[in-house]
Order: sequence, then structure tokens, then C-alpha cells
Amino acid sequence: MKLSVSDLEVKGKKVLLRVDFNVPLSGRQVVDDTRIRAALPTITDLLKRGARLILVSHLGRPCGEVRPELRLDPVAARLSELLGRPVAKLDRVIGPQVAEAIKDLAGGEALLLENVRFEKGEEANDPEFARQLARLADLFVNDAFGTAHRAHASTAGVAEYIPAAAGLLMARELEVLSRCLEQPARPLAAILGGAKVSDKLKVLHRFLDLADTLLIGGGMANTFLAALRYPLGNSYFEQDSLEDAKNILEAAERSACCLQLPVDLTVTRELKPHSAFKVVPVGEVAKGWQAVDIGPETAVFFSEVAAEAGTILWNGPLGVFETAPFHQGTETVARAVAESKAFSIVGGGDIVAALEGFGLAGKIDFISTGGGATLKLWEGAVLPGIAVLQNKK
Ligand code: 3PG
Repeated sequence: MKLSVSDLEVKGKKVLLRVDFNVPLSGRQVVDDTRIRAALPTITDLLKRGARLILVSHLGRPCGEVRPELRLDPVAARLSELLGRPVAKLDRVIGPQVAEAIKDLAGGEALLLENVRFEKGEEANDPEFARQLARLADLFVNDAFGTAHRAHASTAGVAEYIPAAAGLLMARELEVLSRCLEQPARPLAAILGGAKVSDKLKVLHRFLDLADTLLIGGGMANTFLAALRYPLGNSYFEQDSLEDAKNILEAAERSACCLQLPVDLTVTRELKPHSAFKVVPVGEVAKGWQAVDIGPETAVFFSEVAAEAGTILWNGPLGVFETAPFHQGTETVARAVAESKAFSIVGGGDIVAALEGFGLAGKIDFISTGGGATLKLWEGAVLPGIAVLQNKK
């Protein structure tokens, strides 16, 4: 059990809180503030208890360069609105201006540092940069679950130098995402989609060990179908992952888990909105056609599995949901997941955008703020941003 922010005496203390404010922007507007709202419980808790709060986050991948469009000002503005009080935003991460601003910070006040990835030392997890970050504060709290799979200075390195605890969001993510594999209500159904098998190899193997049913859709299903030598026309699949896909299919034969690929596919000649399409059984994708969604028979079957499950874990869309009408397979299954009595967990990424578009996000029991981090946790990997946190005595 990790030390929690609730275990810390924070009154008057400088607390460096790592949050994941890596949110989509359109110009200077935050398009989706889910991650900011998810961090509010820890932020308000620390402010109420009189901490001097120093928030630190990355935004995008500026790779150690200052990129004006990735400054955190729009994020600070949205955070201020949500908190109902102004949060000062600094233009630097470290240095005299930052030290000065922190000196003036009273208990119960917060400020936000500049995008930490403007600093080369961040992604390199440079010990000197980590030490400089640590010098800003007395305590470190990591609430950035979405970035916990990165061993960076502000997620991992800094914890070498000051006491480190988990934030409330981090603790909740860990509890739910671990418990669903350790003690799931059965049957446990896992649904994996998205484009690539190569991103999900380890999690596929782990689900074969732990789940009762593993449903595979989206572009990654094509790679399995190609490994089974089905004709796929112009469909996308990963040539380099055919061997891996074969290994997974062989492992499925030996496993008690039932792996299900699509039995029919929605195909089109041209991937653009409202283009002509047809539904074909797997094995009948003709030259010039490409699979862009699971077919209706597959969607019904996947929905039945969801309806009967005790726990559902889902990562990745089952078709090109952004291009109508190729959202239909994903939407049909999403409705079944939303209506199922099962405890449903969606592991971040594109599928969250799809669920929001269908108006179903509110009917999912738990939506993780992490995409990559959730998959790593489900793989059974040790996440660096969690490993560095102190254990509870
Ligand atoms: C995410 O959005 O997945 C996290 O914020 C991590 O971002 P990264 O993939 O750029 O490290």
C-alpha cells in the first residue's frame, strides 16, 4: 500500500503536486477538461489543509524546447474557473522567478509551473533537474496517473530527494485498475480494439491468463485475420506482427480464456464519411475493399458477452468510429456495456472520445484518465511513477 496524500501533514508545507494536465487544446481553449477535473479532489484537499501548492504538468511533446503553443496558460485559466479562484501561472519551471513566487505563496494558495517538458532534463530524468525540482518543495505528491508509465524527472526522479505520496486520483486509479484483475466479479470480459497489435502484445497475453473472454475488434483484429490467412483486400494490418498474432492465437488454444475475433466485417472502398459500404463474412473481403468496422453479427455477439459479464475491461475502438457510419459496431457494443450490470472499466484513450460522442460516458462505472498507463498496469508492469512512492508503514 502506497503512502497517500491523506497521510501527510501539509499545513504550511510546500507541496509539489504532479498532475497530468496533458489535455487537448484548440488554440487557447481547453477542448476537454476531464483530466483537470479529475485532479480537483487532490488539489482542493491540499488547499483546504493549508498546503502551499506547486502544480507541475507536461503538455504535448515539446522535447525539451519552448513551444509557445504548448504553454500552460489555457490550462491555468480553466483550472482557475473550475476552482473559482485565480491560479497564478509562471513562465518557467525552475529558476529565480519561480523561487521568488514560491517564497510569496501562502498556505492555501496554488501556482502552476510552466510545461515541464520545455526542460531537457525532464524526459531524460536528469538527476540534477530532478534535484532542482525537489528543492522547490518539502513534499512530493504524484496524482498524474496518465503519466505514471514514464520515468521522467517530475514523475519519478524527484521522489529520490523528498518524501513522495500518491494523490487521491492516483490511489483510486490504482485501486480500481488493479482490483479488476485481482478479484474481478466473473465472468471477466476484456474488449480490445484500436489499430495495432504491437502496442498490446503483453496485455493480450495477460488477458489470456486472467479473463474469461477476450473480444478483439478494430484494426488489430485484421492482423489476427491475416495471420489466419483470410483475404483482407486493402485492409490495414501489421505485416510485422503476424508472427506475434499467431503466437497469441496458439496461446489462446492452451488457455481457458475464450478469444473471439470478428465473424463479419463492414467494408468500404473508400474511407470517407458516408461512403458506400457493405457487410461481408470474415474471409470475403474482396480486392479494393477495406475493413473499417466490425459487422453487425459480431456486434451482437460482443454485446451478448458484455450483457452476461460480471466485469468488463475495454481499451480501443472496434472500428474507425470518427468516420460515420463506421462507428456503428463500437456504438452497439458501447450501449451493451453501458446497460450491462457488470462493473465496466474503460482504459483511457480514443475509446473515451467515442463513448462521449455516443453520450454513454456517464454510464460507465470507471473511466481511467490514463491510456498508455492503464495498458502498462494491465500488462502487469511496474510503473515508474508509482514505484518511487513511499510504502505505507
Ligand atoms: C497521455 O496523454 O497518455 C499522458 O499524458 C502521457 O503523455 P505521453 O505519451 O506524451 O508521455
